[in-house]
Amino acid sequence: MNTNKASTVSLLALAAIMTTSLLLADTSMAEEAYDADKYGPQEPIVWTTPTQATFNHPVHTMDAGLECDSCHDGIFAMEQGAAGQAGDFTMKSFKEGKYCGSCHDGNTAFDAATQCASCHSAPEAPIVFTYPVKAVSFDHSTHVKKGGLACETCHKEVFAMKKGTIEEAEQSKTDAVDKREYLEKLHNKYCGTCHDASQAFGYLTRCTVCHIGVKGIDALQGGDQKKEGHGESKH
Ligand code: HEC
Ligand code: HEC
Ligand code: HEC
Ligand code: HEC
Ligand code: HEC
Ligand code: HEC
Repeated sequence: MNTNKASTVSLLALAAIMTTSLLLADTSMAEEAYDADKYGPQEPIVWTTPTQATFNHPVHTMDAGLECDSCHDGIFAMEQGAAGQAGDFTMKSFKEGKYCGSCHDGNTAFDAATQCASCHSAPEAPIVFTYPVKAVSFDHSTHVKKGGLACETCHKEVFAMKKGTIEEAEQSKTDAVDKREYLEKLHNKYCGTCHDASQAFGYLTRCTVCHIGVKGIDALQGGDQKKEGHGESKH
């Protein structure tokens, strides 16, 4: 009996099959080019006013399977910037079912009143409060990345998502008693909602952790420039 010969033949056959399938796999691996007619522009659409927000076509067409006419032209014109010029491209309109809110209502897609970070991103640079003096800076990354706080914890009620919320609040009184009351209210209403010595350090005990002063802010901004000098700008 010659079993040896049979197994040699099948080994050769196996080797041949493996070689061909490897070659086949190789050719089918070539990337298919992105088809903008089929899926819309590949680059994200970014708004910068009044705040920063991003929309991705591929997420909606390729991933969620929507056709162009689910949005164009009934909900959005096929022209970047058109909605922004209409004057009502706001969260309030979304809540009323317009624009992004015609789907992002918690039924068709996640509710736009939640998950702010899916569409918005926090500024990288610290925000410097300038009234009445340049003295306080607020760093998103400490709170969001290190502290793990969701945007909603601050931006639902306490801070509108724009610079100047605190500065636009009622300004100081000259009378000493009123002023003290005013200051307490100011701190309690904003940073003090967390900086109350239970959720985060209390504002009454550690003024200078926030009030770093003009020098502190200059140093902070100098430090930032130095970092950027090393090559990577964050924008
Ligand atoms: C889920 C909604 C949605 C769908 C689906 C959608 N788009 Fe858009 N599209 C938008 C929005 C939002 C804009 C920006 C409009 C604005 O800024 O007013 C836009 C803008 C555009 C623009 C203009 C880009 C520019 O730079 O001016 C083109 C072109 C476009 N879409 C093509 C398509 C095509 C093609 C499809 C289907 C394959 C498609 N879109 C599907 C929402 C959508
Ligand atoms: C025609 C319906 C429709 C409109 C209009 C629409 N979306 Fe969506 N969107 C969807 C669906 C469906 C999904 C996928 C399901 C989900 O994530 O809830 C989605 C998902 C998303 C996601 C999640 C992406 C991810 O996977 O992390 C973002 C962000 C988003 N949309 C932003 C927007 C913005 C910004 C607008 C307005 C400029 C908008 N969408 C308008 C239907 C829509
Ligand atoms: C589905 C995407 C989406 C989600 C989720 C979303 N936004 Fe928006 N938001 C937008 C778009 C688009 C605009 C209009 C363009 C711009 O201002 O950049 C906008 C505008 C805004 C504005 C300025 C205009 C206005 O309405 O006053 C604020 C403030 C804002 N969003 C806050 C929030 C907060 C807070 C959350 C979470 C509770 C949130 N957004 C969740 C897409 C979204
Ligand atoms: C711990 C509180 C806190 C959290 C959490 C937080 N923010 Fe803010 N945010 C602020 C404060 C304070 C301001 C400045 C308000 C002012 O100037 O009056 C601000 C301002 C902003 C601005 C306006 C910046 C400008 O230059 O106009 C944007 C945009 C913003 N936040 C986005 C976000 C996003 C997106 C998230 C979640 C990823 C987030 N924030 C999480 C407190 C917070
Ligand atoms: C939603 C809650 C919340 C709000 C609102 C909030 N913070 Fe904080 N903050 C925290 C937490 C949590 C920490 C980390 C714990 C700690 O240091 O006690 C923190 C830490 C800090 C730190 C210390 C950072 C470090 O490097 O150690 C500073 C400074 C600060 N916050 C400033 C502010 C200012 C200024 C405001 C108002 C514009 C503010 N925070 C509003 C929750 C908040
Ligand atoms: C958690 C951060 C934080 C802490 C801690 C803190 N402050 Fe403030 N304070 C602010 C912010 C934000 C403002 C408003 C922006 C500005 O005036 O620069 C402010 C404003 C002020 C103002 C000016 C208000 C006006 O309009 O005249 C005074 C005065 C002040 N704080 C005193 C204090 C004193 C005193 C302490 C300590 C007992 C303290 N702050 C602790 C964040 C803080």
